[in-house]
Amino acid sequence: MRNRADMIVGLQWGDEGKGKIVDHMAQKADVVCRYAGGHNAGHTIVVDGTKYALHLLPSGVLNPNAINIIGNGVVLSPENLINKELKQFKDLKGRLFISDKAHLLFPYHAEIDQAKERLRKKAIGTTGKGIGPAYADKIIRAGYRVGELNDTETLAAKIIDYFTDNETLFSTMEIDIPKYDVLKQLLDWYRDELGDYITDTTHLLWEYLDSGKRVLLEGAQGTMLDIDHGTYPYVTSSNTISAGACSGLGINPKDIGKVIGIAKAYTTRVGNGPFPTEDFGSDGVRMADAGKEVGTTTGRKRRCGWFDAVAVKYASRLNGCDEIALMKLDVLDGFEEVKVCVAYELNGEKIDYVPYDLERVKPIYETFKGWDSVKGVREFNDLPSNAKAYIKALEEMIRTKITIVSTSPDRNDTIVIK
Ligand code: GDP
Ligand code: IMO
Ligand code: MG
Repeated sequence: MRNRADMIVGLQWGDEGKGKIVDHMAQKADVVCRYAGGHNAGHTIVVDGTKYALHLLPSGVLNPNAINIIGNGVVLSPENLINKELKQFKDLKGRLFISDKAHLLFPYHAEIDQAKERLRKKAIGTTGKGIGPAYADKIIRAGYRVGELNDTETLAAKIIDYFTDNETLFSTMEIDIPKYDVLKQLLDWYRDELGDYITDTTHLLWEYLDSGKRVLLEGAQGTMLDIDHGTYPYVTSSNTISAGACSGLGINPKDIGKVIGIAKAYTTRVGNGPFPTEDFGSDGVRMADAGKEVGTTTGRKRRCGWFDAVAVKYASRLNGCDEIALMKLDVLDGFEEVKVCVAYELNGEKIDYVPYDLERVKPIYETFKGWDSVKGVREFNDLPSNAKAYIKALEEMIRTKITIVSTSPDRNDTIVIK
């Protein structure tokens, strides 16, 4: 019997704790798929005290029985996958499949990304991994796909042509044209290491869905970083929202079942761009310390602030969330008062939606009573009453049920609300 795929999607500016929930749900999944982004993503998962950092690999790799798919919507850095991620695991042959239609992200994409950031008057604060340039090449039809590793001679020649065609641009950015032999050798290495994983994942996923397998779709980044619906230009270069899963995997909207949004009990953002509830005082510092808010991918400090219910309500509607997982509630432990942004002020008027230019809004807060500790709590009824009241108030504001509450990084410290 045909099945529908459930989905996990970030509702803020990334790093909401998606990895922990995907891992939690992957225990019951047959297949886990990534559909967008690249190794700009950093998903940290803690299992029995051991920490895993995943960037391109779906978080299902930690369930030995799950198949993992990297879809066509991903930009794939073979170097990162081979040297960093695959080394954490013994052998993923037969458990990992990479779309032949995914675009290759080369070291020169990272060089372009970093050079463009240096040349910009106002930097985006990208991860510097080459994500924007790789997607740009895809869109202007100057990209190369994973399937082309089948013929590395032709691919190497095409890449040299690409450099020759853009010689002026590359010399302005002080990026050298690669030598054919060195490039060919690099591509051969990619093919040798990844060849066994490359396949037509579109048909494979259809087969899984049609035969009733339980499929989980893992979003990367967050809704406010979406190229169309986020805080442009301070966004990433892909559709991070649930709709991105269709184009990024070759499925249709009817293939999607439950959409679970992931939101932190407060807000963080890495890189530049608007962040209405950012706290520049001691509360923000306290959240950063308690939440260990340092980027998994770049080691940068994350900016911190209170929960933005206007942004999460917008994100929930955009993604079609059926339910929400509220993460890192324990980070707010010990605060006397906890604030939530319930509306914005724009040009002297109170609004309750995300406007075109988020830079210009001021947050309007409501204050809630704090609680001592929720750390490690696993049952809703064991939560302090003020924490329960906070969860219930958020639920009303974002108009979506909160069905999961996370109280520590550990896989098992997770409250499931029936
Ligand atoms: P992702 O990108 O959305 O997967 O999130 P990251 O892994 O980048 O960042 C979330 C961080 O918070 C990770 O270090 C997790 O181990 C950690 N984390 C997840 N859930 C909780 C929680 O409930 N409490 C605390 N204190 N940490 C958590
Ligand atoms: P996960 O999956 C947080 C941010 C960067 C920068 C902007 C553009 O771990 O939630 P890019 O390198 O994508 O061109 O950078 O997007 N960014 C993330 N922030 N979590 C992520 O992924 C991110 N991926 C990209 O910091 O502001
Ligand atoms: Mg992350």
